[in-house]
Amino acid sequence: MDGESGDVVRRERFSGGPARGFLSSMGADKRIFEADLAVDRAHVVMLAEQGIVSEEEADEILGALSEVEAAGYDALPDGEDVHAAIETGVIDSIGPVGGKMHTARSRNDEVVTCIRYRLREDLVEALEATLAFREALVEAAGEHTETLMPGYTHLQPAQPTTVAHWLLSYEGAVARDTERLLDAYSRVNRCPLGAAAFAGTPFDIDRERTAELLGFESVLENSMDASSTRDFLVEVIGTLATLATTLSGMAEDLIIFANRGYVELSDDYASTSSIMPQKKNPDTLELVRATAGDASSGLSGLLTTLKGLPRAYNRDLQRATPYAWETVDAVCEATTVAAGAVATAGWNEGILREAAGEGFSTATGVADALAMAGLPFRTAHELVALAAESGSDYAALDAASEEVLGEPLTEHVPREAIEAALDPAESVASRDSQGGPAPGAVEGTLTATRAALAADETAVDGIRKALDAAANDLNEEVRSYD
Ligand code: ARG
Repeated sequence: MDGESGDVVRRERFSGGPARGFLSSMGADKRIFEADLAVDRAHVVMLAEQGIVSEEEADEILGALSEVEAAGYDALPDGEDVHAAIETGVIDSIGPVGGKMHTARSRNDEVVTCIRYRLREDLVEALEATLAFREALVEAAGEHTETLMPGYTHLQPAQPTTVAHWLLSYEGAVARDTERLLDAYSRVNRCPLGAAAFAGTPFDIDRERTAELLGFESVLENSMDASSTRDFLVEVIGTLATLATTLSGMAEDLIIFANRGYVELSDDYASTSSIMPQKKNPDTLELVRATAGDASSGLSGLLTTLKGLPRAYNRDLQRATPYAWETVDAVCEATTVAAGAVATAGWNEGILREAAGEGFSTATGVADALAMAGLPFRTAHELVALAAESGSDYAALDAASEEVLGEPLTEHVPREAIEAALDPAESVASRDSQGGPAPGAVEGTLTATRAALAADETAVDGIRKALDAAANDLNEEVRSYD
C-alpha cells in the first residue's frame, strides 16, 4: 500500500540516510504527543464540518487516532517527528484514507500549534508554582512582622528591618512574575493552525473553528507570521529567567543567613557531607541559585537560535523548542523547592535581634531624628558619621554634637528621642511609611498582598478550568463521530 502513499515514500527517500537521527525530533516530541492528537482531532472535525472530508472518513481517522493514543508514544511507528509518526500510524491502521488528515495543513502550522497547546499547560504549572511560593512567603511574613533582622546594602549592615519585610520584598517580585506569566499566557493562547506551510491553503477551512475546538482565545492572523514566529517562547522563557534570577537572589540571602545562624533550614531542604559528619549544608538553595544559569542559558540559546532566521519556516525552529521545555521544568521545580524551603525554615529570633543593631545600623534613624527636630539632614548625617568613628552610643553622638554644632545634643532633641532611635525595635517601628518595615506598615502590605494573591489565584483557576472545559468539549465533539 505504501506505493500509493506518496508521502511515505518521500519520507523514506529523504530522511532515511545517515542524518536520520540528526533530523529527528522524536526525543523532544514526546512532550507534544497529546497536544498533537488534540490538534489532529480538531483539524479533522473542522475538515468534516467544512465538507473537506466526509463524516465517514473523519470517523475512521478519529478512530485510528484513538488507537494510536491507546498504544502510546513508544509504540509509534518510525518517523522524522511525532507529526509524521502519528500520521504513519493512522495510515498503517486505516490505509491511504488516513492521508486525508494532513489536508490543508503543514507540519509547520501543526508543530507550532502543538507547542502553544502544550505550553499553556506548562504555563499554568508555572503560574501555580508562583502562587504557591507567594503563599509560603505571605504565610511566613504573617508570623514574623515583629521579628527583627539586619537589613543590608552592599552586604554591609545598613538599617534594621524585619523578617516579614524581607519576605514580602520577594513576594512583590514574584507577584510581578505571576503578572508577566498571565500576560504571556494571553499571547500564547492564540492559534496558528490553518496557516499551512506559511502561505495559507486553497481549501475552505475554518480557522476560527479549530481555534475554538482547541480552546484558543483567537486566531493568529497572518499565515506567514503564524507558522514561523516563536516570539511567544522568548516571552515565556524571558519571564521564567526573570523569576529564576529573583529566586537566585533569595537563595543567596538564605544561604548567607543560614551561615550566620539567622535561619535554620528544615532537614528536608538541607544536605550533609559524606566526610564531615557535623555538616548541614543548604544544598537545595544552592541548586535554586544555580537554576538562574539554566534559565538564562535557555533564553540565550533560544534567542541565538532565532536570530537572523529568514521567513518563513526553517528547521532551526525544531531546536528552539526544547529550550522552552527545559527552562519551564527547571524553573518550576526550583520555585517549588524555594517555596518549601521558606515554608519550613526556622528563624532564630534571638540571634536576629542581636544582629539587627550591629554595625551601627541605627545611624540613619538617629540622623532622621535630628532632622525631624529641625537640623538640616546633611548636618545631621555629618554629625552621626563623625560619631560613628568613635562609637555607636549616646556619648559618641553627644561628643560629635559638641564638635559639629558647638553644643550638646539636648539643645536640639530630647535624649529619649535619640535613645529610642538607637534601639533597633524602635527604629523599625518608626519607619511606618507605606511599604516600610514597621509592623503596622507591614500589616498594611500584607492585607493588600493577600487580596492580590487571591485575585491571581482566581485568574489561574479560571484558566485551568477553561483548558479542562476545552479538552472535554473536544472529546465530546470527537465522540459524536462514533
Ligand atoms: N519537527 C519539526 C519542528 O519541530 C516540524 C516539522 C517541520 N518540518 C519541515 N520540514 N517543514 O519544528
